[in-house]
Amino acid sequence: MSQTASDIRKAFLDFFAAREHRVVESGPLVPPNDPSLMFANAGMVQFKDLFTGKEARDYKRATSAQKCIRISGKHNDLEAVGPSPRHHTFFEMLGNFSFGDYFKEEAIVYAWEFLTGTLGLPKDRLVCTYFGGEDGIPADTEARDLWKKLTGFGDDRVIGLGKADNFWQAGDTGPCGPSSEIHIYQGGSGDIDFGSFGDEQTPEGVGWMELWNLVFMQYDRPSKDAELQPLPKPSIDTGAGLERLACVLQGKTNNYDIDLLRELVECAAEISGKPYGHTMAPDDVSMSVIADHSRLTAFLISEGILPDRDGRPYVLRRVMRRAIRHGHRLGIEQSFLHRVALKVAEL
Ligand code: ALA
Repeated sequence: MSQTASDIRKAFLDFFAAREHRVVESGPLVPPNDPSLMFANAGMVQFKDLFTGKEARDYKRATSAQKCIRISGKHNDLEAVGPSPRHHTFFEMLGNFSFGDYFKEEAIVYAWEFLTGTLGLPKDRLVCTYFGGEDGIPADTEARDLWKKLTGFGDDRVIGLGKADNFWQAGDTGPCGPSSEIHIYQGGSGDIDFGSFGDEQTPEGVGWMELWNLVFMQYDRPSKDAELQPLPKPSIDTGAGLERLACVLQGKTNNYDIDLLRELVECAAEISGKPYGHTMAPDDVSMSVIADHSRLTAFLISEGILPDRDGRPYVLRRVMRRAIRHGHRLGIEQSFLHRVALKVAEL
């Protein structure tokens, strides 16, 4: 099945709307009134106060496609952009949220139904993880057992991992909890060796890629080194990368080959006068970096951030400079980043 990124975004929001979730617009990239974050790095950012009970709205379930930047603080992917086929500084995160309404079982069933039913992803390439316990926080055996019951998978495909992988919080403070991830094996042929789980996708695109993270929000961390406090009501926060889902559904092994990014890569190729070869050769990597960074640049400037010497403007300046440096590498001599950014606006 081949679907455009827009089709997938719509399918996701429709799936959850049909299950009583309010479809909420993406929050801004620059979170208002949240000094703990430089940029929105997940769908839950605009809902933080709903998890902690500080704010209530007239809905208890929500779904969104959130603009995210992961380039500062706890989640920073800048150096991976270019060498990695699946990392971005700017991307869209699809999410469903429960504010004290449903919890683990429904979140797990919804995710599985959407991936394997609505999208038709091959079950024989999927693995699920759960929090295996660490630092005095107990293992999430409930999530483990729910996954096993639902999928029929054994211990080789329902895998316990530590805090680095399966305990999630947006920054140093705020709501948090154990999580479960769904990963897919990309590329390769023949039977999947589940013992290879953890071997991340190679630059050529073969190996394991995380598709969706389901966070079981149970705790709040009021300050950086504070003990975890239980949340008033257990909640759900999930995040699936739109670009990664599109990569799988469009039969690609590199996110830069999907419809949303491909035209930007081609735009960089055209300006440079060199062909894009779909490899990890230095010229192709430079075109991918320009594609990624032009999205971040266009979206941040659209929110009123302009490049400058400190804070958010400095982050933008660094990203623009990195894109421009890759342009110079490609032999582009004139100003060009605005041309790729205009293509972002058009798309
Ligand atoms: N907030 C979680 C994440 O970003 C879902 O992975």
